[in-house]
Amino acid sequence: MDKIKIKGGKALKGTIHISGAKNATLPLMAACLLTEKTLRLSNLPHLVDISTMANLLVQHGVDFRLDGCAEDGGHVGEVILLNAQQVDNFEAPYDIVRKMRASVLVLGPLLARFGKARVSMPGGCAIGTRPIDLHLNALEKMGAKIELKDGYINATCKGRLKGVDIQFDKVSVGATENIVMAACLAEGTTILNNAAKEPEVTDLVHCLIAMGAQIEGADTDKLIINGVDKLHGTDYEVISDRIEAGTYMVAAAITNGDILLKNVPMDIMNSTIEKLDEAGVFIKEEKDGLRVKRKNRKIISADAITQPYPGFATDMQAQFMALMTIADGTSVIKETIFENRFMHVPELSRMGANIAVEGNTAIVRGIDKLNGAQLMATDLRASVSLVLAALVAKGETVINRMYHIDRGYERIEEKLAAVGANIERVKE
Ligand code: UD1
Repeated sequence: MDKIKIKGGKALKGTIHISGAKNATLPLMAACLLTEKTLRLSNLPHLVDISTMANLLVQHGVDFRLDGCAEDGGHVGEVILLNAQQVDNFEAPYDIVRKMRASVLVLGPLLARFGKARVSMPGGCAIGTRPIDLHLNALEKMGAKIELKDGYINATCKGRLKGVDIQFDKVSVGATENIVMAACLAEGTTILNNAAKEPEVTDLVHCLIAMGAQIEGADTDKLIINGVDKLHGTDYEVISDRIEAGTYMVAAAITNGDILLKNVPMDIMNSTIEKLDEAGVFIKEEKDGLRVKRKNRKIISADAITQPYPGFATDMQAQFMALMTIADGTSVIKETIFENRFMHVPELSRMGANIAVEGNTAIVRGIDKLNGAQLMATDLRASVSLVLAALVAKGETVINRMYHIDRGYERIEEKLAAVGANIERVKE
């Protein structure tokens, strides 16, 4: 298990290129199962989760190919080709699903096209119980027979799934994605009310439309899908990663640096930009990219509540909290999406941060200096918040269990070292 070693105190200066969005790429890859024609995806990030999804699809029988690379010969802008003409295995096994919950996104497409799927139950994870009842209830309503046995979801349907009205009790990104994919090949019209309208969902909807799906309401909480007999292939460019962009904005701010971010998906970054602006971060579009630095000497405390899009993203909560640990004043941060998403708090506290947690609310009293420490990465966003804190901490920080960060941040140590961070991956 690799570790990451950081000596804090360097103001980061230079340019960082933002990669394609992990959370958009995963459902787009699963969408290849809906057609026998080739789906070509570009602007892909190089991440462990993307390889996990590729492995899952390949074991279902999907033909997976890499196609070309970036102009500079590097990692940026990678392209893949997916062809699901020869799918002959309908099982998503425990060993893959346990590594990545998004594996459950193959359920809707497999069921819709082949009438059967067997998918391991994802189970809980570090940030909460994370049930998939919304996915299963909706599929049942569409006519699927769902049986839970031996830790697996066995789903079948006779003929095509049926279009129905679905009212989601909660906003769920994954459930919206799974059901919108299933509904594309269903018989009749499916209406999804209280659908998630996260940009990654909208990206999927746009790609499905390019594949021949009939969907209205992209970007809204009501999706109307008229099922079609078949979808075809397409060539689709994945949106850039708004969470990666937000994370590097915090890196510039927390270190009192000056960073130019390239390939930032500006139109979907409002909530992050507004919050950082409130905290005293200068963010301005320039000819070559997005300039990020502090407005003044100090970061100012600001409160935050996580909400479904377009609200402040739960995936930015830990990074924002890291910034607030060194802000002038007290910040109240409320997490409303996941019940247990404060695992970074004890680790930040080990660095000297002053944070009190009451239920789903964290009260962060800003201090002058964090200190380096030995830390444990627990989940993707919690772990990256520790990297951010370490960049400004006095002395050395060692973060164990780097693999959490590798799931969602492409070459993070290279990107940060290129703007002056004293950061090193220690291979074990
Ligand atoms: C996706 C993102 C994740 C992000 C989250 C919320 C991917 C791969 N992951 O996760 O990074 O933090 O959206 O923006 O895109 N829930 C239920 N029943 C269900 C489904 C969800 O109760 O059937 C609950 C969850 O436990 C959670 C809330 O709904 O409390 C939101 O979860 P959801 O939007 O489904 O998250 P994911 O799609 O798993």
